[in-house]
Amino acid sequence: MLDLVPWRHVVVDVRSGDRLTYEVLVGCFRGEVPGIRIPGFYDQPELEAVLTCIEKRVESARDYQAIDLGTVYGVPSHWEFEYTEGDWDSYWGKADAGEAMRREDFSSVGDPVGTWTALLSAAWPQDVVRARHPSTGRMLYAGLVRSGAPLLHFDRAPFDFPDFGRDVAWQLGINIILREGGCGGDLRVYRQLGMAPGNTADSGESPVGNYGLSERLVEGIPSDDIPCRAGDLVITGNFFLHEVTPCTMPSRRLTVSTHAVWLRDGTIALFS
Ligand SMILES: [Fe+2]
Repeated sequence: MLDLVPWRHVVVDVRSGDRLTYEVLVGCFRGEVPGIRIPGFYDQPELEAVLTCIEKRVESARDYQAIDLGTVYGVPSHWEFEYTEGDWDSYWGKADAGEAMRREDFSSVGDPVGTWTALLSAAWPQDVVRARHPSTGRMLYAGLVRSGAPLLHFDRAPFDFPDFGRDVAWQLGINIILREGGCGGDLRVYRQLGMAPGNTADSGESPVGNYGLSERLVEGIPSDDIPCRAGDLVITGNFFLHEVTPCTMPSRRLTVSTHAVWLRDGTIALFS
């Protein structure tokens, strides 16, 4: 008889000496566990130092009002060109500016891209690198600072960014919660792969990217809620449908995030 275990996220308490392991990372990539939570990855003084810098920029953040998401450094996600205006020519200038802002804002705690690379490298036998554009070889941006509480969606490079995505076997999202959006605001992951692009949102609008998908896609599907408290680092397999649970002040919620993809050459590559 099959030994069925509940589909629940794994807690790795690095402050008490726990380590993120290869087995847990592979399990998360493949959806055997819905996610990994490292509580208190940043402590309160670290959060305050970072937030003091980021809050100065929030006013001028790029905003996707239809889906209530903001991108503080104004760097577009790779998937946007499929849906909105934007092109690679203008991307590179924004990516360079975003790199400078991210390094400056996180100087007190260390650039999160370096932090994620070190965390994954300690568990992964092959290289952890920055993703590069498949034809130009230029380094893609990583470390999106985002406001808002994303609606039901999935992230899937083979669909969002096909030229690059054909080398992608599995995909994780890594988020550090910088500020909560009041009560709620946890990450709900459904045990259902997001494999059907072009679904219509419940609002009747065309989805922006894969955001705002119909809740009918997840009716009756088992799910797990991963608590997202300020300072936590949360990893989830983001081929799976996921959303942030309702919160009382969604526009206050701030995260810094990256995608981490397992490429067919065995490396992990980071990009946003
Ligand atoms: Fe996502």
